Amino acid sequence: MDGAATGGGLASGKSGEEAGTTEEIGAFMRYEAAAAARAEALRGKEKVQILALETSCDETAAAVIEDGRKILSNVIFSQIDLHELYGGVVPEIASRAHMEACDRVIDEALKGAGMTLEEVDALAVTYGPGLVGALLTGVNCMKGLAYATGKPLIPVNHMEGHVSANFLTYPELEPPFVCLVVSGGHSHLVEVADYGEYHLIGQTTDDAAGEAFDKAARVLGLPYPGGPRIDALAEEGNPGFMTLPKPKTEGRYDYSFSGVKTAFLNFVHGMEQRGEPLPKADLAAGFREAVCEQLTEKAERLLLDRKAEEGGALPAMAMAGGVSANRELRRRMTAMCERLGVPLFMPRLDLCTDNGAMIGSAAYYQLRTGKIADLSLNAKPALRLV
Ligand code: KG4
Ligand code: ZN
Repeated sequence: MDGAATGGGLASGKSGEEAGTTEEIGAFMRYEAAAAARAEALRGKEKVQILALETSCDETAAAVIEDGRKILSNVIFSQIDLHELYGGVVPEIASRAHMEACDRVIDEALKGAGMTLEEVDALAVTYGPGLVGALLTGVNCMKGLAYATGKPLIPVNHMEGHVSANFLTYPELEPPFVCLVVSGGHSHLVEVADYGEYHLIGQTTDDAAGEAFDKAARVLGLPYPGGPRIDALAEEGNPGFMTLPKPKTEGRYDYSFSGVKTAFLNFVHGMEQRGEPLPKADLAAGFREAVCEQLTEKAERLLLDRKAEEGGALPAMAMAGGVSANRELRRRMTAMCERLGVPLFMPRLDLCTDNGAMIGSAAYYQLRTGKIADLSLNAKPALRLV
């Protein structure tokens, strides 16, 4: 991992002028050595409290988490109002809003936990994937706080955070399990073999599920963010109103949503051209059903294959990411897992979408393996989970 603690990271590969004066470099190296020693000591500490910051997209969020499982505070400042006018997230606006909100949100999270910055054991920040400017504001903010306080800084993969929302919801849940990770940028089936150890099973070959929901919502003239609006509208609609195609994918556990999205778009445009009024609830229900059916079917296929391969043993199933808040998906996954006798873990609704608590949970398990950042930590917009 770039930015992992190797000592003197800020100086590595850079000219003296770029990296700072000799004095500064010395100070950075002293911080990094001291932070690494503190991180090592924390591995044996009983109660570890981590202040985590999340700024990868349009939520400025901070939380204080104890031992990866207990939420002491969880503060989310949503920028939805700022982006709604434009029908989607405007990266420049997001970065500026994060910059303005970071300090306040962190203060509120500390206050909510009844702690001072000095009292927390370590700091954590999302460093990817996400919008580069948005990530950078968070990374720089936390690097500054880490350097000023001498505390270790844990760099967290946003998607790993989403998976970890399950550890906050179910204190007894331990890997291994398989997880359906569905967000604005991801539709993955992964195996969580251990904390921080992921294996890819399947993924979308085109759009992510959340992205497809957002695009379909736009076609219906629903405001950003579209996923929750389609979901709410669909509750009143008849999913049998339309039939959308079932995609064929090469990979046995892969997903594809672009064909469904295009068919939906053509269907709606056809109605508009014929001057027919749009039954938005029925259309939303039809689209939601097509997406959720595909997501659930591949998850079921995986479970059944595993059962056949492993002589009857079925892995536990979990869900993660913004789309795991979808009511129909939760119902379908619940019914499918009940039918197969598989335990299903779904994050608490408020922990499905972006938040700082999930970052603090993932950070705790990362700290236990000693993976901390040095001061060269950079934003990684295309960081992968697997
Ligand atoms: O995980 P998330 O908050 O951010 C990313 O990491 O992408 O996911 C946001 C995505 C958006 O596309 C949003 O429309 C979708 O999750 N989403 C939903 C629902 N709630 C959020 N999609 C369908 N139904 C929902 N209830
Ligand atoms: Zn997210």
